[in-house]
Amino acid sequence: MGNDREKVVLAYSGGLDTSVMVKWLQTEKNLDVIAICGNVGQDEEDLEWVKQKAYNMGAIYSDAVDLRKSYASRVLTKAIAANALYEDTYPLLSALSRPMLAKYLVDYAHKHGAHYIAHGCTGKGNDQVRFETCIHALDPDLEIIAPVREWDLLTREQEMEWAAEHDVPVPTTAAKPYSIDDNLWGRAIECGVLEDPWNEPPADIWTMTVNPEDAPDTPEYVTLAFEHGVPVTLNGEKMKLLPLIIKLNEIVGAHGFGRIDMIENRVIGIKSHECYECPASLAIIKCHQALESLVLDHDTQHYKHQIDQTWSTLIYDGLWFSQLKKALDAFIASTQEFVTGEVRFKLYKGSMTVVGRRSDYAIYQYGLATYSEGDTFDRSASKGFIDIHSLQSKTWSQVQGPGAHRAAEGHDFDQF
Ligand code: ARG
Repeated sequence: MGNDREKVVLAYSGGLDTSVMVKWLQTEKNLDVIAICGNVGQDEEDLEWVKQKAYNMGAIYSDAVDLRKSYASRVLTKAIAANALYEDTYPLLSALSRPMLAKYLVDYAHKHGAHYIAHGCTGKGNDQVRFETCIHALDPDLEIIAPVREWDLLTREQEMEWAAEHDVPVPTTAAKPYSIDDNLWGRAIECGVLEDPWNEPPADIWTMTVNPEDAPDTPEYVTLAFEHGVPVTLNGEKMKLLPLIIKLNEIVGAHGFGRIDMIENRVIGIKSHECYECPASLAIIKCHQALESLVLDHDTQHYKHQIDQTWSTLIYDGLWFSQLKKALDAFIASTQEFVTGEVRFKLYKGSMTVVGRRSDYAIYQYGLATYSEGDTFDRSASKGFIDIHSLQSKTWSQVQGPGAHRAAEGHDFDQF
């Protein structure tokens, strides 16, 4: 009806890159632009203004969607259940937000009959892999445009110049020295002086956590209660997960806990130096692990640890929408049935220490564990257990090991 231009849905943040893209997709690709900004709890300027700015640049539709509640209840609950830490360290904040954003982009594409989705990720990072893998999994027919991988605006200056020529509002603030990605689950900081991994992260990169040296001189105790693996009360107050995470970020950050400085293996083969601050996410995961150690039996806890690591790597690699992830979710969900109870921790000058845990479903039994009055353990049973357990060691020793060489001179501890 007068307009036969094809449409593209753009993952739009309001920053310089994606603002330039709103115009670039119109002028260079001859597409109508639908600019979607997803709020996953980033420390963002006024999102209504971000949305208006897209209209001012000629977008045919723009929206700023508040995804924080679903992000907490549909994504972060799973990350908590899986104690999700990539390379045992990073709580996956960027990796966890992308599938939810991708889902909304695909929904908008369907709603508006768009055949393309565009994003602002660089060609060297993980986020391009995640966005595109998730989008392909959700709708294999959609096509991706990644302007940063193909345009020749290689420096910020070139981008600013292009923006000025095409009536794209140019930021008046100085270029930020770091690349930041943040949401409810924490904040990622890269680039600048951090590119030399010998450099200690400068104090100005941190915004969610105080410098541990400047943290309060008195410790603070916090109690977190879980139901079926989900945090439900904070210091006795019943809270939904979203406000609970927001509050916990404040409490924990004020004591300087949650800073991470690591060398990380990206999906595309590059090692990079990454800094994160993750006060609430790290504290919640540590508490969740502490509670699991009380209620999961030996075999399940050990096996789940491997599953958790596999789950975390899948999510890091952008495979949220995948057969294996779905199957692992089912396993993990079944382990959370009795992860109900309380964990108490202490915050002090950059440290967070679990100092108490209790649950009606604890497999920890005082009577079995105690060395004092009230011992219910049958000590006489241990001998038979050890006879069988050590049988293979005995027979090996007699034939090939120390038992066979007893007479030989000079064999020592390291020989076997
Ligand atoms: N390395 C992290 C990841 O891949 C964080 C990436 C965040 N992006 C950024 N622009 N700083 O999950």
